[in-house]
Amino acid sequence: MHAIISISGLSKTYASGFAALKGVDLDIRRGEIFALLGPNGAGKTTLISIVCGLVRATAGRVTVDGHDIVRDYRAARALIGLVPQELTTDAFETVWNTVSFTRGLFGKPPDPAYLERLLKDLSLWNKKDAKLMMLSGGMKRRVLIAKALSHEPRILFLDEPTAGVDVELRRDMWQLVRRLRDQGVTVILTTHYIEEAEEMADRIGVIAKGELILVEDKAALMRKLGGKQLTLQLAAPLEAVPPALARYGLTLGKGGAELIYRYEAETEDNAIADLLQDLGAAGIAFADLHTTQRSLEEIFVSLVSERAGADGNGRGAGEGAR
Ligand SMILES: Nc1ncnc2c1ncn2[C@@H]1O[C@H](COP(=O)(O)OP(=O)(O)OP(=O)(O)O)[C@@H](O)[C@H]1O
Ligand SMILES: [Mg+2]
Repeated sequence: MHAIISISGLSKTYASGFAALKGVDLDIRRGEIFALLGPNGAGKTTLISIVCGLVRATAGRVTVDGHDIVRDYRAARALIGLVPQELTTDAFETVWNTVSFTRGLFGKPPDPAYLERLLKDLSLWNKKDAKLMMLSGGMKRRVLIAKALSHEPRILFLDEPTAGVDVELRRDMWQLVRRLRDQGVTVILTTHYIEEAEEMADRIGVIAKGELILVEDKAALMRKLGGKQLTLQLAAPLEAVPPALARYGLTLGKGGAELIYRYEAETEDNAIADLLQDLGAAGIAFADLHTTQRSLEEIFVSLVSERAGADGNGRGAGEGAR
């Protein structure tokens, strides 16, 4: 399968002198759902804005289905729908007018039947004559999605589509994305929610401080990063992990006052029961216990700090995170 979007050596230094992207190389495969993950300020919106022609790159090259986004801007842009991170809408327009106007901007002939289906799919049909300023935030977001899809794009960018939206809209969004994928649309989304990436994506890219630090199939990445942690507060501190418990790969924390067990989220339920039993057998008492799941933010922090430790290796440093 060849790339529908090809990004090479992409850099962006803003007028302020801030380097938001530093030599990003990335191929997006035709028909995939690609999730771009990264902490605040990592450069996700900058990357998307460049591909969509809203921000000009400082260096590098992007092609969209073979069209250079600078030399061949209109052809490239016509293939793309963008749901931006920020809510910006023309307050006094109606839903119907704003969506059909956007379609017209892309030079597509009117197709009321298509727009009706689109608005129905997004549960916006009964709001079609409402002015945008009268809509709730979630409804406005649905309108932005309708606008992005109004010209039947082959590629859809969703920049933080579910930040601050309710469960229902999130589920609708996921359903919509799947339906689009089934129609052959390539979807690139950014998100902070690991469960969203887990639910939706075929591949995941992690970006931090303007550098793409890994790109991987979702399944492999989730195995590696989605783990849980059980922390036991011990009744009495330990000097070392007893050899009888070696098979669990435990570590000590807080000067021996905590025993930490890392495990996969779903696969090892019995292991915890076994561990607790073996702890009892070894005569280790604990006062309290809790489990935590590593959040994306924590994962990023650890990826980025691992990377900082490996600096000086240049491009190969990303391998250090594997
Ligand atoms: N117009 C601008 N001028 C100067 N700096 C900018 C500009 N736009 C963005 N930046 C900076 O570039 C960096 C990347 O911003 P960007 O919006 O791409 O991050 P992001 O990954 O989308 O973050 P978030 O998760 O918060 O949306 C940030 O440090 C931001 O402050
Ligand atoms: Mg952003």
